[in-house]
Amino acid sequence: MSDYVPSDFVTVAKVGEIPEGQGQAYAVNGRMVAVFNEGGKYSAIDDFCPHMGASLAGGYLEAGIVTCPWHAWRFCTHDGKWCDNPKIKIDAFEVRIEGDEVQVRVPVKEQGTGDKDQGTGDAT
Ligand code: FES
Repeated sequence: MSDYVPSDFVTVAKVGEIPEGQGQAYAVNGRMVAVFNEGGKYSAIDDFCPHMGASLAGGYLEAGIVTCPWHAWRFCTHDGKWCDNPKIKIDAFEVRIEGDEVQVRVPVKEQGTGDKDQGTGDAT
């Protein structure tokens, strides 16, 4: 978790593009995020089901809970808790509406060492 740093909100859709009662997946800051529209209220969690990797955006949505389309694990779309074992949770993200845009804030994974060639010192 400490590997992530805060980021700005990013627009993923226009209001109305995500049908009521459904979710859609978007790539934001290098991650897939499932954004749900339930009665005009939006929420966002990690799209990757921790069981075997199904897209949670395609799951059945009811009462703030999405059911994974593959093997029916259930997650709260507001805080990412796994309903059958609330000690385990997936990431949940802030969502806001700005004008007619749906925006999410997904922390950015901090760059590790070694990816960037800064040209300082160690020249091998
Ligand atoms: S992949 Fe989601 S419950 Fe199995």
